[in-house]
Amino acid sequence: MPDLAPFIRGLPKTELHMHVEGSIEPEMMFALAERNGVDLKWDSPEALRAAYEFSDLKSFLDLYFEGCRVLVSERDFYDVTMAYLGRAVRDGVVRAELFLGPQSFTDRGVPMASILKGIFGAITDAKRDIGISAGLMVSAHRHRSEAEAMELLDQIMPWADQILGIGMGGAEVGNPPSKFKSFFLECRNRGFRTTIHAGEEGPASYVREAIEVLQVDRIDHGNACLSDSALTKEIADRRIALTVCPLSNVRLKVVPRLDVHPLRTMLKANLLVTVNSDDPPYFGGYVSENLIECQKALALSKAEIVRLVRNGFEAAFITSEERSQYLAAVDDFASF
Ligand code: HPA
Ligand code: ZN
Repeated sequence: MPDLAPFIRGLPKTELHMHVEGSIEPEMMFALAERNGVDLKWDSPEALRAAYEFSDLKSFLDLYFEGCRVLVSERDFYDVTMAYLGRAVRDGVVRAELFLGPQSFTDRGVPMASILKGIFGAITDAKRDIGISAGLMVSAHRHRSEAEAMELLDQIMPWADQILGIGMGGAEVGNPPSKFKSFFLECRNRGFRTTIHAGEEGPASYVREAIEVLQVDRIDHGNACLSDSALTKEIADRRIALTVCPLSNVRLKVVPRLDVHPLRTMLKANLLVTVNSDDPPYFGGYVSENLIECQKALALSKAEIVRLVRNGFEAAFITSEERSQYLAAVDDFASF
């Protein structure tokens, strides 16, 4: 098989599942800590990088929330978002849909306006200066109460027209989607698109609840649906996208190794599966690395790579004109 890495890097791509607060490279983490007088429990960026050893989702989330402490001001949110978008452009990403969970910050007294204005500022400037199209998905924590999620929803309403949708992450097992039935109904009633992390560590029944009870537009991860063939067929038939994150799955021990990742099975099951990075520094790669590593480990063909990348544009929250233009650009690139 020829080396497909240059082809993968060059393809116009989407990123539909990444967390802004999970995109801070260790060097930037230290620079922000110094700027804000925040004490980190590591001595150096190298020591922090060495701490990226996770046994499960919880062990990762502990470190991730610790890292959130360095983001304090509007400028911080601008800078991390801009750093990510610059990196994404170099990776060939032309459309990025970014999660951020404000509760980690508003809890410590950071105003919602600082968070959102910083992120929107970077999205606007990045579009103008480096040509990437991006949008923000506000994410709620599932390990908190539904009342807290509702409070978050009320707090973001002044910016509703600039927000792409609402997502949900955090500790999955023990916090099933049905816990947030009223919240998701309210989000949909207020006109937001919705997604939820489901079937990462949780069972297929959580994925079923996500589509049947919450009626979300996309599932983040979704791996566990494969253990229920009727559910897999339903998700495939309804063209509900799964934003899968292969390197994250390996690092968080959702799958033992990349060569046994179910990505190819998902393609064969006709699922609208996409490849994404989740929290790139923590998991060892941006979108291209996720695709390149999967291509090698699973011996994916060029056609399968193109399918995964096309799926990203099929699943993106964009207009049908934008979708057609992006898909034509992918097909143009792939036909050379
Ligand atoms: N799962 C749940 N919550 C998260 C994740 C994840 O993979 N990444 C950041 N928050
Ligand atoms: Zn995630």
